Amino acid sequence: MVKLGVNIDHVATLREARKTRVPDPIEAARICEKAGCDSIVAHLREDRRHIKDDDMVALRKSVKTLLNMEMSIAGDIVAFACKLKPDQATLVPERRQEVTTEGGLDVKGNFSRVKKAVSKLEDRGIRVSLFINPVRHQIDASISAGARIIELHTGEYANALSAASAKRELTIIRDATAYALTRGLEVNAGHGLDYNNVKDIAKIKGMHELNIGHSIISRSIFFGLYASVIEMKGIIR
Ligand code: PXP
Repeated sequence: MVKLGVNIDHVATLREARKTRVPDPIEAARICEKAGCDSIVAHLREDRRHIKDDDMVALRKSVKTLLNMEMSIAGDIVAFACKLKPDQATLVPERRQEVTTEGGLDVKGNFSRVKKAVSKLEDRGIRVSLFINPVRHQIDASISAGARIIELHTGEYANALSAASAKRELTIIRDATAYALTRGLEVNAGHGLDYNNVKDIAKIKGMHELNIGHSIISRSIFFGLYASVIEMKGIIR
């Protein structure tokens, strides 16, 4: 079965709206795991707008499934990850002004910096995934940079304005998955996936894991986090 990684950043976003202690992302991770998620994803952004260093340390101690740290390739963030030792690091592009991660990492354009970050993390025993757009040259560059895992950006698919363009984007993701699998990579996907659009992505042959945040945390406000994770797992299944 395709695995589910739950991104808990937006629990911390709500906490930071009041700069207080609640809701606690560590408690959120516990509930997600109880509900059967396969990994916990948290993005330590350079501006620390939601998840903080202390959250990452506490997550490292409490997460019982797998901790997937989303991160940029900035030197201090890479150094932090090397000390923290999450089970996995997912390298993403990061711009201060963006609301969320926009587009995949340009592995080809930042090749030597990405390769250096991959090798530092892998040397510490951290599995590295590269978050990329579903295009062959980025897949090839990811392999050359030493990655064993990629996460395909599903934003274009999720934001498609018509059924025809969603179908087109789905085909692109499906083809990219098939290509990456032939090249020996583990393939994950994420960004913008929700309770309606996840089904077709989950059906892609060979897909390993889907990383989902905003839609699950949003739904949890009305139906509870435990129920929202179970529902997403059910749809994926
Ligand atoms: N995967 C990656 C690499 C991301 O950057 C994000 C957004 O933080 C997600 C998955 C989850 O996206 P969403 O919150 O839209 O589900």
